[in-house]
Amino acid sequence: MNKTVLAAIIVVIAMLGFTYVAVGSAGGMGGEGDWVNKLAVLGAVVLVIITSFVVTKYVRQMQNDRAGGKLADENWDGIGEYKNELPFGWAIIFFGLVIWAIWYFLAGYPVGTYSQIGEYNDEVAAHDAKFNEQYKNMDDATLNAMGESVFIVQCAPCHGLQADGMNGKAADLHVRLAEKSIKHVVMNGSNNNLLGTNMPMPDRNGLMNSNTSALITDAEIDAVTKYVAGGLKGSVGADVFAGTCAACHGPDGKGMDMVAPNIAEMSPAMVDMVLHHGKKGAIGAMPAFTNLTEVQYKALGAYVSSLSK
Ligand code: HEC
Ligand code: HEC
Repeated sequence: MNKTVLAAIIVVIAMLGFTYVAVGSAGGMGGEGDWVNKLAVLGAVVLVIITSFVVTKYVRQMQNDRAGGKLADENWDGIGEYKNELPFGWAIIFFGLVIWAIWYFLAGYPVGTYSQIGEYNDEVAAHDAKFNEQYKNMDDATLNAMGESVFIVQCAPCHGLQADGMNGKAADLHVRLAEKSIKHVVMNGSNNNLLGTNMPMPDRNGLMNSNTSALITDAEIDAVTKYVAGGLKGSVGADVFAGTCAACHGPDGKGMDMVAPNIAEMSPAMVDMVLHHGKKGAIGAMPAFTNLTEVQYKALGAYVSSLSK
């Protein structure tokens, strides 16, 4: 590959890296940041690429083009100089830009001080803080109502207005867990950061039934799946649950701090975990929501956990 092109690619990568370090997650690179920030970063990336492309084109032209025109009278040991006037318009723009660049960095928009996007971010943060403050002490009815309205906008496209999962497109939030999902987890384990500690659940090869002192069997998996899906009631599968699952999930399935989540009912804490980390399972992938305000997380937790009661 041509050296100039290689150098251009290296410069582009370095500048993209610099942009990433400079704006970080505020620019929406980690899935955070709203669309205004994402657009600003996209604009910066496009500018870097266009600039490098144009510069590379001219550098290559300088390398390859042969000069022509009138030679100056002086020559140095046979080396002559062409008489090329600077194009007037070009010179004006060049010096104008030099002055503008100095002004830009020193007085206009010094790095790390004012920027429109920064002002926008400050305003959004101030507004969010005000919003959180205003709704800090909501009663349950208001909290649920707010949760429902956020749900209609953010969640209904996948979960449906009724939160029924629209024929399996997403989880039906009126039940804690569908049979299909439970079986999937017992077979394959789960690693969705549901506890906020990154503690995974082992797959079937890590699940020992202490009643039989053997790995859990297919028949036991079917039985315990039905038992959990049925709200941990009845006798079928109860022995498997007690022998295999209770050690982590507790005898009533309500989970234990830092050990295993509540699989008996949907708690606000669980909804919060799913919103912050997303979730992959038998049904599909649920994206993480990183852009909501504190109050909105709380409201969604209250609303969604009230659905399956
Ligand atoms: C070694 C401890 C342990 C044992 C034993 C265990 N689990 Fe889990 N289970 C976990 C952990 C930890 C998680 C959370 C994993 C994650 O973050 O995705 C989990 C998650 C789950 C989930 C997913 C919950 C959700 O909302 O998606 C289900 C369902 C589940 N377990 C069912 C069972 C059943 C049924 C058994 C018995 C056959 C069992 N577990 C045995 C630790 C355990
Ligand atoms: C892009 C589609 C999509 C959107 C938008 C979405 N979800 Fe989900 N959600 C899913 C899918 C798919 C699952 C099932 C994941 C699995 O297979 O376990 C899920 C699962 C869940 C679960 C876990 C249910 C369980 O018991 O396993 C909760 C809670 C949840 N979503 C809440 C929400 C809330 C609240 C919102 C709105 C802020 C939302 N979801 C937006 C697709 C979506």
